[in-house]
Amino acid sequence: MTISRRDFVLASLAAPVSFKAVTRLSRQRPMQNSKLRVAKIGCGGMGNDDLRAVASHPMVEIVALCDVDRRSVDALRLGTKDKEGKAVPPKFPQAKGFADWRELFSTMEKDFDAVVVSTPDHMHAAISMAAMNMGKHVYCQKPLAHGAWENRRLAEVAATKPNIVTQMGTQRIATKWRRYGAKLMRDGVVGRVSDLYAWTNRPAGWWPQGGDRPQGSDPIPEWLSWDLFLGVSPERPYKDGYTPFNWRGTIDWGTGAFGDMGCHMLDVPFYELELGMPRSVRCDPEKATSDQYPERETVVVTYAAGPKTGANGLKLHWFDGGRFPDFRSLGLPEGWEGGKTAEEVVKGDGGVIAVGEKGVLWFPIEHAWSRVFVDGKPVEMTPKDLGASNHWHDWVDACLAGKKDACVSRFEKAGRLCESLSIGAVSSLDPGKELVFDASSCAFANSPTASRMLRRTPRAGWSVANL
Ligand SMILES: NC(=O)c1ccc[n+]([C@@H]2O[C@H](COP(=O)([O-])OP(=O)(O)OC[C@H]3O[C@@H](n4cnc5c(N)ncnc54)[C@H](O)[C@@H]3O)[C@@H](O)[C@H]2O)c1
Repeated sequence: MTISRRDFVLASLAAPVSFKAVTRLSRQRPMQNSKLRVAKIGCGGMGNDDLRAVASHPMVEIVALCDVDRRSVDALRLGTKDKEGKAVPPKFPQAKGFADWRELFSTMEKDFDAVVVSTPDHMHAAISMAAMNMGKHVYCQKPLAHGAWENRRLAEVAATKPNIVTQMGTQRIATKWRRYGAKLMRDGVVGRVSDLYAWTNRPAGWWPQGGDRPQGSDPIPEWLSWDLFLGVSPERPYKDGYTPFNWRGTIDWGTGAFGDMGCHMLDVPFYELELGMPRSVRCDPEKATSDQYPERETVVVTYAAGPKTGANGLKLHWFDGGRFPDFRSLGLPEGWEGGKTAEEVVKGDGGVIAVGEKGVLWFPIEHAWSRVFVDGKPVEMTPKDLGASNHWHDWVDACLAGKKDACVSRFEKAGRLCESLSIGAVSSLDPGKELVFDASSCAFANSPTASRMLRRTPRAGWSVANL
Protein backbone atom coordinates (compact mmCIF):
# COMPACT_ATOMS: atom_id res chain seq x y z
CA MET A 1 0.00 0.00 0.00
CA THR A 2 1.22 3.52 -0.69
CA ILE A 3 -0.01 6.57 1.13
CA SER A 4 -0.63 9.77 -0.80
CA ARG A 5 0.30 13.24 0.39
CA ARG A 6 -3.45 13.89 0.85
CA ASP A 7 -3.94 10.74 2.95
CA PHE A 8 -0.93 11.70 5.00
CA VAL A 9 -2.33 15.15 5.75
CA LEU A 10 -5.77 13.74 6.48
CA ALA A 11 -4.25 11.24 8.87
CA SER A 12 -2.42 13.99 10.68
CA LEU A 13 -5.54 16.14 10.95
CA ALA A 14 -7.82 13.30 12.02
CA ALA A 15 -9.56 13.64 15.36
CA PRO A 16 -7.53 11.92 18.09
CA VAL A 17 -8.41 8.24 18.24
CA SER A 18 -9.98 6.96 21.40
CA PHE A 19 -7.39 5.68 23.82
CA LYS A 20 -9.80 2.85 24.60
CA ALA A 21 -8.78 1.52 21.22
CA VAL A 22 -5.10 1.60 22.01
CA THR A 23 -5.23 0.25 25.53
CA ARG A 24 -6.58 -3.20 24.61
CA LEU A 25 -4.13 -6.03 25.02
CA SER A 26 -2.90 -7.13 21.62
CA ARG A 27 -2.63 -10.72 20.46
CA GLN A 28 0.59 -12.31 21.66
CA ARG A 29 2.33 -14.00 18.74
CA PRO A 30 4.64 -16.94 19.23
CA MET A 31 8.00 -15.55 18.21
CA GLN A 32 9.99 -18.76 17.60
CA ASN A 33 9.88 -18.81 13.81
CA SER A 34 8.36 -15.48 12.96
CA LYS A 35 9.91 -12.08 12.56
CA LEU A 36 9.48 -9.26 15.05
CA ARG A 37 7.15 -6.77 13.34
CA VAL A 38 8.39 -3.31 14.29
CA ALA A 39 6.66 0.08 14.05
CA LYS A 40 9.14 2.96 13.97
CA ILE A 41 8.08 6.29 15.44
CA GLY A 42 10.27 9.32 14.75
CA CYS A 43 12.36 8.56 11.64
CA GLY A 44 14.71 11.55 11.31
CA GLY A 45 17.93 12.18 13.25
CA MET A 46 18.69 9.41 15.75
CA GLY A 47 15.47 7.75 14.60
CA ASN A 48 17.18 6.94 11.32
CA ASP A 49 20.13 5.35 13.15
CA ASP A 50 17.72 3.37 15.34
CA LEU A 51 15.80 2.24 12.29
CA ARG A 52 18.92 1.03 10.46
CA ALA A 53 20.25 -0.70 13.57
CA VAL A 54 17.03 -2.54 14.39
CA ALA A 55 16.27 -3.39 10.75
CA SER A 56 19.75 -4.91 10.35
CA HIS A 57 18.63 -7.80 12.56
CA PRO A 58 17.66 -10.65 10.21
CA MET A 59 14.52 -11.42 12.25
CA VAL A 60 13.03 -7.91 12.06
CA GLU A 61 10.42 -6.66 9.65
CA ILE A 62 9.68 -2.93 9.58
CA VAL A 63 5.91 -2.70 9.08
CA ALA A 64 5.16 0.96 9.81
CA LEU A 65 6.95 4.31 9.77
CA CYS A 66 5.62 7.39 11.54
CA ASP A 67 6.94 10.94 11.62
CA VAL A 68 5.36 14.38 11.88
CA ASP A 69 7.83 15.42 9.18
CA ARG A 70 6.39 13.86 6.02
CA ARG A 71 9.74 14.05 4.23
CA SER A 72 11.34 11.48 6.57
CA VAL A 73 8.62 8.88 5.99
CA ASP A 74 8.40 9.55 2.25
CA ALA A 75 12.15 9.13 1.75
CA LEU A 76 12.08 5.73 3.47
CA ARG A 77 8.90 4.44 1.81
CA LEU A 78 8.91 6.09 -1.57
CA GLY A 79 12.60 6.88 -2.14
CA THR A 80 14.43 10.16 -2.41
CA LYS A 81 17.22 11.93 -4.30
CA ASP A 82 20.81 12.38 -3.18
CA LYS A 83 22.74 15.69 -3.27
CA GLU A 84 23.64 15.17 -6.95
CA GLY A 85 19.98 14.58 -7.81
CA LYS A 86 20.41 10.83 -8.33
CA ALA A 87 17.43 8.66 -7.34
CA VAL A 88 17.82 6.75 -4.08
CA PRO A 89 15.44 3.76 -3.92
CA PRO A 90 13.15 3.38 -0.90
CA LYS A 91 14.54 1.25 1.93
CA PHE A 92 11.16 0.18 3.31
CA PRO A 93 8.63 0.32 0.44
CA GLN A 94 6.42 -2.27 2.16
CA ALA A 95 5.96 -0.23 5.36
CA LYS A 96 2.81 1.81 5.95
CA GLY A 97 3.29 5.54 6.55
CA PHE A 98 1.79 7.73 9.28
CA ALA A 99 2.09 11.22 10.72
CA ASP A 100 0.12 10.36 13.88
CA TRP A 101 1.27 7.47 16.06
CA ARG A 102 -2.22 7.16 17.55
CA GLU A 103 -3.57 6.46 14.08
CA LEU A 104 -0.85 3.85 13.58
CA PHE A 105 -1.66 2.17 16.90
CA SER A 106 -5.41 2.04 16.28
CA THR A 107 -5.34 0.91 12.64
CA MET A 108 -2.46 -1.59 12.88
CA GLU A 109 -3.06 -2.97 16.34
CA LYS A 110 -2.80 -6.60 15.23
CA ASP A 111 -0.04 -6.01 12.69
CA PHE A 112 2.94 -5.08 14.86
CA ASP A 113 4.68 -6.58 17.88
CA ALA A 114 7.06 -3.85 18.95
CA VAL A 115 7.77 -0.13 18.65
CA VAL A 116 10.96 1.90 18.51
CA VAL A 117 10.42 5.46 19.76
CA SER A 118 12.91 8.16 18.67
CA THR A 119 10.83 11.32 18.91
CA PRO A 120 11.76 14.39 20.97
CA ASP A 121 11.77 13.67 24.72
CA HIS A 122 8.34 15.13 25.59
CA MET A 123 6.56 12.39 23.59
CA HIS A 124 8.52 9.37 24.85
CA ALA A 125 6.24 8.55 27.79
CA ALA A 126 2.88 8.91 26.02
CA ILE A 127 3.95 6.72 23.07
CA SER A 128 5.83 4.13 25.14
CA MET A 129 3.06 3.81 27.72
CA ALA A 130 0.33 3.54 25.05
CA ALA A 131 2.42 0.79 23.41
CA MET A 132 2.89 -1.08 26.70
CA ASN A 133 -0.85 -0.73 27.38
CA MET A 134 -1.36 -2.63 24.10
CA GLY A 135 1.11 -5.35 25.09
CA LYS A 136 3.87 -4.25 22.68
CA HIS A 137 7.61 -4.46 23.28
CA VAL A 138 9.27 -1.03 23.42
CA TYR A 139 12.72 0.36 22.60
CA CYS A 140 12.69 4.05 23.56
CA GLN A 141 15.42 6.62 23.15
CA LYS A 142 17.03 8.31 26.12
CA PRO A 143 15.99 10.04 28.29
CA LEU A 144 13.24 7.53 28.95
CA ALA A 145 10.76 10.34 29.56
CA HIS A 146 10.56 14.08 30.08
CA GLY A 147 9.34 14.48 33.66
CA ALA A 148 10.07 12.60 36.89
CA TRP A 149 6.55 11.19 37.24
CA GLU A 150 6.45 9.83 33.68
CA ASN A 151 9.79 8.10 34.23
CA ARG A 152 8.56 6.54 37.43
CA ARG A 153 5.34 5.30 35.85
CA LEU A 154 7.13 3.74 32.87
CA ALA A 155 9.36 1.82 35.29
CA GLU A 156 6.45 0.75 37.48
CA VAL A 157 4.19 -0.34 34.64
CA ALA A 158 7.00 -2.20 32.81
CA ALA A 159 7.57 -4.17 36.02
CA THR A 160 3.97 -5.41 35.94
CA LYS A 161 4.14 -6.71 32.33
CA PRO A 162 5.68 -10.18 32.21
CA ASN A 163 5.46 -10.45 28.41
CA ILE A 164 6.92 -7.08 27.47
CA VAL A 165 10.61 -6.51 26.75
CA THR A 166 11.87 -2.94 27.10
CA GLN A 167 15.15 -1.14 26.48
CA MET A 168 16.21 2.52 26.70
CA GLY A 169 18.48 3.71 23.87
CA THR A 170 21.72 4.23 25.78
CA GLN A 171 23.74 2.12 23.36
CA ARG A 172 27.10 3.12 24.86
CA ILE A 173 26.42 0.93 27.89
CA ALA A 174 27.01 -2.13 25.67
CA THR A 175 30.58 -1.11 24.73
CA LYS A 176 33.63 -2.90 26.10
CA TRP A 177 34.84 0.36 27.70
CA ARG A 178 31.72 0.93 29.77
CA ARG A 179 31.44 -2.76 30.63
CA TYR A 180 34.93 -2.68 32.09
CA GLY A 181 34.18 0.56 33.98
CA ALA A 182 30.99 -1.02 35.32
CA LYS A 183 32.97 -3.99 36.60
CA LEU A 184 35.42 -1.69 38.40
CA MET A 185 32.54 0.12 40.07
CA ARG A 186 30.78 -3.13 40.90
CA ASP A 187 33.97 -4.53 42.42
CA GLY A 188 34.36 -1.37 44.50
CA VAL A 189 37.97 -0.69 43.39
CA VAL A 190 37.95 2.74 45.05
CA GLY A 191 35.85 1.68 48.01
CA ARG A 192 32.65 3.43 49.00
CA VAL A 193 32.05 6.48 46.83
CA SER A 194 31.24 9.83 48.44
CA ASP A 195 31.33 12.11 45.38
CA LEU A 196 30.67 11.79 41.66
CA TYR A 197 31.87 14.54 39.34
CA ALA A 198 30.30 14.55 35.86
CA TRP A 199 30.70 17.02 33.01
CA THR A 200 29.71 17.48 29.37
CA ASN A 201 30.74 19.97 26.70
CA ARG A 202 27.03 20.37 25.73
CA PRO A 203 25.01 22.48 24.99
CA ALA A 204 27.52 25.09 23.76
CA GLY A 205 27.96 24.72 20.00
CA TRP A 206 25.41 21.90 19.87
CA TRP A 207 22.00 23.46 20.51
CA PRO A 208 20.64 26.73 21.96
CA GLN A 209 20.03 27.11 25.71
CA GLY A 210 19.71 30.19 27.88
CA GLY A 211 17.40 32.16 25.57
CA ASP A 212 13.96 33.65 26.04
CA ARG A 213 10.96 32.27 24.26
CA PRO A 214 11.03 33.39 20.60
CA GLN A 215 8.38 35.99 19.80
CA GLY A 216 5.82 35.83 16.99
CA SER A 217 5.30 32.93 14.64
CA ASP A 218 6.42 31.59 11.26
CA PRO A 219 4.33 29.82 8.63
CA ILE A 220 4.15 26.09 9.35
CA PRO A 221 6.00 24.22 6.57
CA GLU A 222 3.70 22.10 4.42
CA TRP A 223 5.63 18.94 5.36
CA LEU A 224 5.27 19.39 9.14
CA SER A 225 2.29 18.46 11.35
CA TRP A 226 2.99 21.03 14.05
CA ASP A 227 0.05 20.11 16.29
CA LEU A 228 1.27 16.49 16.37
CA PHE A 229 4.79 17.66 17.19
CA LEU A 230 3.39 19.56 20.20
CA GLY A 231 1.51 16.45 21.33
CA VAL A 232 1.29 16.42 25.14
CA SER A 233 3.11 19.77 25.51
CA PRO A 234 1.36 23.14 25.83
CA GLU A 235 0.25 24.88 22.67
CA ARG A 236 2.58 27.49 21.18
CA PRO A 237 2.95 29.02 17.71
CA TYR A 238 5.43 27.46 15.32
CA LYS A 239 8.81 29.15 14.86
CA ASP A 240 11.48 28.14 12.35
CA GLY A 241 14.35 26.39 14.10
CA TYR A 242 12.37 24.59 16.81
CA THR A 243 12.64 21.24 15.01
CA PRO A 244 14.61 19.16 14.15
CA PHE A 245 17.22 18.78 16.91
CA ASN A 246 17.15 22.24 18.59
CA TRP A 247 14.01 21.46 20.63
CA ARG A 248 16.21 19.78 23.32
CA GLY A 249 17.09 23.10 25.06
CA THR A 250 13.41 24.12 25.39
CA ILE A 251 11.93 23.09 28.74
CA ASP A 252 8.58 22.08 27.23
CA TRP A 253 10.21 19.47 24.96
CA GLY A 254 13.72 18.51 26.02
CA THR A 255 15.65 17.87 29.19
CA GLY A 256 18.64 20.14 28.53
CA ALA A 257 22.29 19.13 28.66
CA PHE A 258 21.86 17.41 32.04
CA GLY A 259 18.88 15.22 31.13
CA ASP A 260 20.30 14.50 27.68
CA MET A 261 23.93 13.61 28.34
CA GLY A 262 23.40 12.49 31.93
CA CYS A 263 21.76 9.30 30.60
CA HIS A 264 24.91 8.31 28.68
CA MET A 265 27.31 9.23 31.46
CA LEU A 266 25.55 8.40 34.71
CA ASP A 267 23.70 5.20 33.82
CA VAL A 268 26.49 2.86 34.94
CA PRO A 269 27.39 4.82 38.11
CA PHE A 270 23.71 5.07 39.05
CA TYR A 271 23.09 1.34 38.59
CA GLU A 272 26.37 0.07 40.05
CA LEU A 273 26.41 2.37 43.07
CA GLU A 274 22.76 1.47 43.71
CA LEU A 275 21.63 5.06 44.12
CA GLY A 276 18.08 5.79 45.19
CA MET A 277 16.06 8.96 44.68
CA PRO A 278 17.73 12.33 45.28
CA ARG A 279 17.25 13.98 48.63
CA SER A 280 17.94 17.49 47.38
CA VAL A 281 19.24 19.41 44.39
CA ARG A 282 20.73 22.85 43.90
CA CYS A 283 21.44 24.57 40.57
CA ASP A 284 23.79 27.50 40.04
CA PRO A 285 23.15 28.51 36.46
CA GLU A 286 24.08 31.25 34.04
CA LYS A 287 21.30 32.56 31.79
CA ALA A 288 18.43 30.44 33.10
CA THR A 289 15.07 31.44 31.63
CA SER A 290 11.54 30.15 32.08
CA ASP A 291 11.56 28.82 28.49
CA GLN A 292 14.99 27.25 28.10
CA TYR A 293 17.50 25.41 30.23
CA PRO A 294 20.52 27.55 31.21
CA GLU A 295 23.46 28.36 28.98
CA ARG A 296 25.71 26.70 31.55
CA GLU A 297 25.21 25.34 35.04
CA THR A 298 26.62 23.55 38.03
CA VAL A 299 24.15 21.25 39.78
CA VAL A 300 24.68 19.38 43.04
CA VAL A 301 22.38 16.44 43.74
CA THR A 302 22.52 14.64 47.10
CA TYR A 303 21.68 10.98 47.68
CA ALA A 304 21.08 9.11 50.93
CA ALA A 305 23.71 6.62 52.11
CA GLY A 306 23.57 3.16 50.59
CA PRO A 307 25.81 0.07 50.59
CA LYS A 308 28.20 1.52 47.96
CA THR A 309 28.19 5.19 49.01
CA GLY A 310 30.03 7.06 51.72
CA ALA A 311 28.59 6.89 55.22
CA ASN A 312 26.99 10.31 54.72
CA GLY A 313 25.58 9.49 51.31
CA LEU A 314 26.78 10.65 47.92
CA LYS A 315 26.99 14.02 46.20
CA LEU A 316 26.74 14.26 42.42
CA HIS A 317 28.43 17.41 41.07
CA TRP A 318 27.26 18.13 37.50
CA PHE A 319 28.92 20.66 35.15
CA ASP A 320 27.89 21.69 31.62
CA GLY A 321 28.15 24.44 29.02
CA GLY A 322 31.91 24.94 29.45
CA ARG A 323 32.12 24.50 33.20
CA PHE A 324 34.31 21.67 34.50
CA PRO A 325 35.32 20.34 37.89
CA ASP A 326 38.67 21.45 39.28
CA PHE A 327 40.43 18.30 38.03
CA ARG A 328 43.66 18.96 39.95
CA SER A 329 41.88 18.98 43.29
CA LEU A 330 40.28 15.60 42.54
CA GLY A 331 43.40 13.49 42.89
CA LEU A 332 44.44 13.18 39.25
CA PRO A 333 48.15 13.31 38.39
CA GLU A 334 49.79 16.52 37.14
CA GLY A 335 51.19 14.79 34.06
CA TRP A 336 50.05 11.89 31.94
CA GLU A 337 51.34 9.55 29.27
CA GLY A 338 52.35 11.37 26.11
CA GLY A 339 53.13 14.61 27.93
CA LYS A 340 49.50 15.65 28.23
CA THR A 341 48.00 17.03 31.40
CA ALA A 342 45.39 14.93 33.17
CA GLU A 343 42.89 17.64 32.37
CA GLU A 344 43.55 17.37 28.63
CA VAL A 345 43.09 13.61 28.73
CA VAL A 346 39.90 13.39 30.76
CA LYS A 347 38.00 16.48 29.54
CA GLY A 348 36.95 15.06 26.16
CA ASP A 349 33.30 14.85 25.29
CA GLY A 350 32.43 14.39 28.93
CA GLY A 351 33.08 11.89 31.67
CA VAL A 352 32.70 10.92 35.29
CA ILE A 353 35.13 10.83 38.21
CA ALA A 354 34.17 8.79 41.26
CA VAL A 355 35.92 9.78 44.49
CA GLY A 356 36.07 6.83 46.86
CA GLU A 357 37.65 6.07 50.21
CA LYS A 358 40.60 4.24 48.55
CA GLY A 359 41.20 6.39 45.46
CA VAL A 360 39.73 7.97 42.37
CA LEU A 361 38.13 6.26 39.35
CA TRP A 362 37.99 8.04 36.00
CA PHE A 363 35.08 6.67 33.98
CA PRO A 364 35.15 8.06 30.41
CA ILE A 365 32.03 8.24 28.30
CA GLU A 366 33.42 5.92 25.56
CA HIS A 367 36.53 5.02 23.52
CA ALA A 368 38.89 4.85 26.53
CA TRP A 369 39.47 2.48 29.41
CA SER A 370 38.62 3.55 32.94
CA ARG A 371 41.63 4.33 35.15
CA VAL A 372 42.21 4.27 38.89
CA PHE A 373 44.43 6.76 40.75
CA VAL A 374 45.73 6.55 44.29
CA ASP A 375 47.57 9.49 45.88
CA GLY A 376 47.70 11.25 42.50
CA LYS A 377 49.38 8.32 40.71
CA PRO A 378 47.85 5.96 38.15
CA VAL A 379 47.49 2.37 39.35
CA GLU A 380 49.03 -0.18 36.95
CA MET A 381 46.12 -2.27 35.67
CA THR A 382 45.49 -4.34 32.55
CA PRO A 383 42.02 -3.51 31.28
CA LYS A 384 39.85 -6.59 30.86
CA ASP A 385 38.00 -6.78 27.55
CA LEU A 386 34.55 -7.99 28.57
CA GLY A 387 33.28 -7.83 25.00
CA ALA A 388 30.61 -5.64 23.50
CA SER A 389 27.18 -6.25 22.11
CA ASN A 390 24.70 -4.56 19.82
CA HIS A 391 22.30 -2.75 22.13
CA TRP A 392 19.45 -2.77 19.55
CA HIS A 393 19.92 -6.44 18.67
CA ASP A 394 20.05 -7.35 22.36
CA TRP A 395 16.52 -5.95 22.61
CA VAL A 396 15.31 -7.75 19.46
CA ASP A 397 16.80 -11.05 20.66
CA ALA A 398 15.16 -10.63 24.07
CA CYS A 399 11.78 -9.90 22.41
CA LEU A 400 12.08 -13.00 20.22
CA ALA A 401 13.15 -15.18 23.14
CA GLY A 402 10.59 -13.67 25.54
CA LYS A 403 13.35 -12.79 28.01
CA LYS A 404 11.93 -9.82 29.85
CA ASP A 405 14.92 -9.20 32.11
CA ALA A 406 17.64 -9.66 29.49
CA CYS A 407 18.09 -5.99 28.54
CA VAL A 408 20.64 -3.95 30.48
CA SER A 409 18.68 -0.68 30.10
CA ARG A 410 15.21 -2.11 30.69
CA PHE A 411 12.60 0.42 31.77
CA GLU A 412 12.54 -0.80 35.38
CA LYS A 413 16.15 0.40 35.71
CA ALA A 414 16.21 3.23 33.18
CA GLY A 415 13.04 4.83 34.58
CA ARG A 416 14.62 5.21 38.01
CA LEU A 417 17.82 6.66 36.54
CA CYS A 418 15.88 9.14 34.41
CA GLU A 419 13.54 10.10 37.25
CA SER A 420 16.66 11.09 39.15
CA LEU A 421 18.12 13.00 36.19
CA SER A 422 14.91 14.86 35.43
CA ILE A 423 14.88 16.14 39.02
CA GLY A 424 18.34 17.60 38.44
CA ALA A 425 17.42 18.91 35.00
CA VAL A 426 14.53 21.12 36.17
CA SER A 427 16.38 22.58 39.16
CA SER A 428 17.38 25.64 37.08
CA LEU A 429 13.73 26.77 37.32
CA ASP A 430 14.39 27.77 40.94
CA PRO A 431 18.11 28.59 40.93
CA GLY A 432 20.47 29.08 43.83
CA LYS A 433 18.28 27.25 46.31
CA GLU A 434 18.52 23.80 47.91
CA LEU A 435 15.36 22.13 46.57
CA VAL A 436 14.19 19.29 48.80
CA PHE A 437 12.73 16.35 46.88
CA ASP A 438 9.80 14.52 48.41
CA ALA A 439 9.72 11.15 46.65
CA SER A 440 6.29 10.17 47.97
CA SER A 441 4.57 13.14 46.26
CA CYS A 442 7.13 13.34 43.44
CA ALA A 443 7.51 17.07 44.11
CA PHE A 444 9.93 19.52 45.69
CA ALA A 445 8.77 20.27 49.23
CA ASN A 446 9.91 23.90 48.94
CA SER A 447 9.47 24.80 45.27
CA PRO A 448 6.11 24.80 43.47
CA THR A 449 7.89 26.59 40.58
CA ALA A 450 10.24 23.71 39.82
CA SER A 451 7.74 21.02 40.89
CA ARG A 452 5.41 21.83 38.00
CA MET A 453 7.84 20.21 35.55
CA LEU A 454 8.21 17.03 37.62
CA ARG A 455 4.61 16.05 36.98
CA ARG A 456 3.02 17.91 34.12
CA THR A 457 -0.61 17.80 33.02
CA PRO A 458 -0.78 16.80 29.35
CA ARG A 459 -2.49 19.03 26.82
CA ALA A 460 -6.25 18.41 26.58
CA GLY A 461 -6.97 15.25 24.56
CA TRP A 462 -3.48 13.79 25.04
CA SER A 463 -3.74 11.80 28.26
CA VAL A 464 -2.74 8.14 28.18
CA ALA A 465 -3.88 5.52 30.66
CA ASN A 466 -1.36 4.67 33.40
CA LEU A 467 0.56 7.97 33.20
N1 LIG B 1 21.25 7.40 21.99
C1 LIG B 1 21.87 8.39 21.39
O1 LIG B 1 23.08 8.39 21.21
C2 LIG B 1 21.06 9.56 20.89
C3 LIG B 1 21.63 10.48 20.01
C4 LIG B 1 20.81 11.53 19.55
C5 LIG B 1 19.51 11.63 20.00
N2 LIG B 1 19.01 10.74 20.88
C6 LIG B 1 17.62 10.83 21.35
O2 LIG B 1 16.77 10.53 20.24
C7 LIG B 1 15.60 11.32 20.31
C8 LIG B 1 15.47 12.12 19.00
O3 LIG B 1 16.55 13.02 18.93
P1 LIG B 1 17.07 13.58 17.53
O4 LIG B 1 18.35 14.26 17.79
O5 LIG B 1 17.04 12.49 16.53
O6 LIG B 1 15.95 14.65 17.20
P2 LIG B 1 15.47 15.13 15.76
O7 LIG B 1 14.61 16.30 16.01
O8 LIG B 1 16.63 15.24 14.85
O9 LIG B 1 14.59 13.90 15.24
C9 LIG B 1 13.35 13.59 15.83
C10 LIG B 1 12.44 13.04 14.75
O10 LIG B 1 11.17 12.75 15.34
C11 LIG B 1 10.17 13.39 14.58
N3 LIG B 1 9.04 13.68 15.46
C12 LIG B 1 8.86 14.73 16.29
N4 LIG B 1 7.72 14.59 16.98
C13 LIG B 1 7.15 13.43 16.58
C14 LIG B 1 5.95 12.74 16.93
N5 LIG B 1 5.12 13.22 17.84
N6 LIG B 1 5.67 11.59 16.28
C15 LIG B 1 6.51 11.09 15.34
N7 LIG B 1 7.65 11.70 14.98
C16 LIG B 1 7.98 12.85 15.60
C17 LIG B 1 10.83 14.59 13.97
O11 LIG B 1 10.13 15.08 12.85
C18 LIG B 1 12.20 14.04 13.63
O12 LIG B 1 12.19 13.35 12.41
C19 LIG B 1 15.74 12.21 21.54
O13 LIG B 1 15.03 11.66 22.60
C20 LIG B 1 17.23 12.21 21.82
O14 LIG B 1 17.53 12.39 23.18
C21 LIG B 1 19.75 9.70 21.33
